[in-house]
Amino acid sequence: MPSERVTPNPMGRSRHPTWRAAALAMALGSACTPSNLREWRPEDHDSGATSTGAVAEAPVNDDPLAAARGVFAAQCASCHGASGHGDGPMAAMFHPADLTTPTWQASRTDDEIAASIRNGRGAMPAFGTQLRSEAIPLLVQLIRSWRR
Ligand code: HEC
Repeated sequence: MPSERVTPNPMGRSRHPTWRAAALAMALGSACTPSNLREWRPEDHDSGATSTGAVAEAPVNDDPLAAARGVFAAQCASCHGASGHGDGPMAAMFHPADLTTPTWQASRTDDEIAASIRNGRGAMPAFGTQLRSEAIPLLVQLIRSWRR
């Protein structure tokens, strides 16, 4: 059937918006550098410095538990060790458990962990009045992040 030959290929049509976007980007590029107004040449494509490198190298602070790590290092690591293994400098006196083991992690709910931090437990002092209330759920999350 001859009519099939003139039917436009839908894949071909779908490229048109991309071409228009490229032309628009070029036009905007020229508008930003009026001193450079002339016909675009292929070698221009590679010559200019772009900002993408700087964006890619920008430092990212994507650690949502940074505050909890700070509190733990200051208030808890002396007994629990920096990563909760129960090996801080005061561990020999207080014998805290290794909070990272699967056995220990499975033995407590988040609420039980929060309650121990708030109210103390055994030889561990209560922190409910020393910590801002937002800190306790974050400390629970930090301790959960150590689950092996
Ligand atoms: C003076 C030492 C000491 C300090 C400081 C300390 N802990 Fe503890 N912690 C312990 C001891 C000892 C235990 C074990 C208590 C028990 O089960 O008898 C414990 C237990 C725990 C547990 C387990 C509780 C449970 O339900 O078994 C968590 C969680 C915990 N501590 C978190 C913290 C956090 C968070 C901090 C800081 C805000 C902190 N600890 C500061 C000594 C300490």
